[in-house]
Amino acid sequence: MKLPALLLALAHLHGVLGLWPLPRSLQTGSSALKLASNFDIHVNIAHAPSDLGSAIARTKSFLKNDKLGRLVVGRGTLDSNVVQRAGSLRTLELSLAPGSPVRSITDEARLPIGTRSEEYALHIPADGFTATLTANSTLGLLRGLTTFEQLWYEASGQVYTMETPVSISDSPAYPFRGFMLDTSRNFFPVSDIQRTLDAMSWVKMSQFHWHVTDSQSFPLEVPGFTELASKGAYASSMVYSPQDVQDIVAYAGARGIDVMIEIDTPGHTAIISAAHPEHIACAEASPWTTFANEPPPGQLRLASPATTNFTADLLASVARMFPSSLMSTGGDELNTECYVQDPETQADLKASGRTLEQALDVFTRTTHAAIRAEGKTPAVWEEMVLEHNVTLGNDTVVMVWISSANAAAVAAKNFRIVHGPSDFFYLDCGAGEWVGDDVANSWCDPFKTWQKSYTFDPQANISASQAHLVLGGEQLLWTEQSGPENLDSIVWPRAASSTEVFWSGPGGNSTTALPRLHDLAFRMRQRGVKAIPLQPLWCALREGQCNINS
Ligand SMILES: *[C@@H]1O[C@H](CO)[C@@H](O)[C@H](O)[C@H]1NC(C)=O
Ligand SMILES: *[C@@H]1O[C@H](CO)[C@@H](O)[C@H](O)[C@H]1NC(C)=O
Ligand SMILES: *[C@@H]1O[C@H](CO)[C@@H](O)[C@H](O)[C@H]1NC(C)=O
Ligand SMILES: *[C@@H]1O[C@H](CO)[C@@H](O)[C@H](O)[C@H]1NC(C)=O
Ligand SMILES: *[C@@H]1O[C@H](CO)[C@@H](O)[C@H](O)[C@H]1NC(C)=O
Ligand SMILES: *[C@@H]1O[C@H](CO)[C@@H](O)[C@H](O)[C@H]1NC(C)=O
Repeated sequence: MKLPALLLALAHLHGVLGLWPLPRSLQTGSSALKLASNFDIHVNIAHAPSDLGSAIARTKSFLKNDKLGRLVVGRGTLDSNVVQRAGSLRTLELSLAPGSPVRSITDEARLPIGTRSEEYALHIPADGFTATLTANSTLGLLRGLTTFEQLWYEASGQVYTMETPVSISDSPAYPFRGFMLDTSRNFFPVSDIQRTLDAMSWVKMSQFHWHVTDSQSFPLEVPGFTELASKGAYASSMVYSPQDVQDIVAYAGARGIDVMIEIDTPGHTAIISAAHPEHIACAEASPWTTFANEPPPGQLRLASPATTNFTADLLASVARMFPSSLMSTGGDELNTECYVQDPETQADLKASGRTLEQALDVFTRTTHAAIRAEGKTPAVWEEMVLEHNVTLGNDTVVMVWISSANAAAVAAKNFRIVHGPSDFFYLDCGAGEWVGDDVANSWCDPFKTWQKSYTFDPQANISASQAHLVLGGEQLLWTEQSGPENLDSIVWPRAASSTEVFWSGPGGNSTTALPRLHDLAFRMRQRGVKAIPLQPLWCALREGQCNINS
């Protein structure tokens, strides 16, 4: 699945081409074209859904307001003579291929993973007569609009491109292109999540994995279980209400993003003890290192029928808040010592005559049955298949996190895979230890650069007969050391790296990708996302001149 060499050569030749992720098929010329002052986007679709109208309005707003100067010395002011004489583009015509269903972007984005249509074709003639964008779904049209927006620069009051004619036909290599945010270790207001969803949509991400709760805080108000947030959130102002959830999933859906909620169980649940001490083993036990990988310890009493029932009902209620067909029940880092030292769990195991593994199986089957009854397909962390002996439906999605080397073992068990390996995709690594009196390095040192994640090969060590099991992957932000203050800077533009791997396919050259990633970061800043610089501005404006042998 290597990118065609020609395509990379083109991207290098023109340099300024700011497309990210790179389309799978791309031809560009070298004629300038500007947007006519009355440029407009027409929709040739009867009863076009309103979220397509909103997407078009956003595109028009970006074309007007991005005001991004080309990343060359002078920022494109030297282009003005050429641009004056260039043709003008008056319209972009959007249409669906004959026979395509007319559904909202939101509905298309929430179809089961692997069944969504994201392909599109975009043609921009050099004479500016009419540009066309066609797709088989409104979601495909959204992806094409996103590409269209990245083609234009501004100088001397003109919005223009130097590379027409443009001919693109594009579709993703993998359907799951995600970003995971932990909102338990530190809280993020709805506006931060929405800004993140915007940036995700600009790079054609399809999946927001929301790790909403963990041991430290429970910021989700769940109908029927409101005590969990009222006693377990950091503050009443640090709670996502059902209305907030509706706002977030609607915002995501309109931007082509499905929201997979995760309630991590049975571990990573200490804070539930604030409202329900009866359901939590080893709550805040000391020393925490014996009972958990990070403080505070506390896990659901998985052998207790009452706790199993409570968890199943809780997960079902959360499931009803989210329209996605995917939902994660977590399952990482289960600490057995916590249960060995918990008298209630030992009594429950004795009464049922089960081992802890057998009790975990019952717990998992019960909780998964509860979310399946709400129409969800479960997702779990890798330990549930690699370290435990639980019965999982063969459609369960398994998230690989501990190491990229574990993906092959998951595939060998015939489970669908989402790659999120800490050795490539953890955005929090390399910031030092956060445990109070320890000056060690972070456990997943070093810092994962964008170049590192860019080298990821989704099919490494996976046999051809299991290749279809790979759904894609995600970059992840665990937030022990992150908050609204550094959200943009720790995520962007780094998290765009994997999205190119999973959209365009692996094997891209980071040297030729760098100018495009600069372009993306600059455009993100124009739109209010504080993506960090990748190099001194001097280098960003002089492609290749800061390479080692330049
Ligand atoms: C849409 O689907 C048809 C087949 O139904 C296919 O030929 C076409 O290439 C698809 N893509 C676009 C962008 O129209
Ligand atoms: C939990 O117990 C309640 C009361 O007995 C029952 O109504 C509910 O169906 C149970 N939930 C599950 C998931 O078994
Ligand atoms: C795993 O569980 C199954 C079904 O309960 C059982 O037959 C098997 O012996 C267990 N294997 C191990 C290694 O515990
Ligand atoms: C699960 O197994 C059933 C029955 O063997 C099969 O039809 C289905 O395709 C499998 N699903 C997946 C996702 O492998
Ligand atoms: C693939 O396997 C080789 C040899 O076992 C190993 O060195 C490499 O790290 C593996 N790669 C991934 C991504 O798992
Ligand atoms: C990446 O592209 C650069 C510039 O064209 C080239 O010098 C280098 O050899 C390429 N690297 C690989 C690994 O192909």
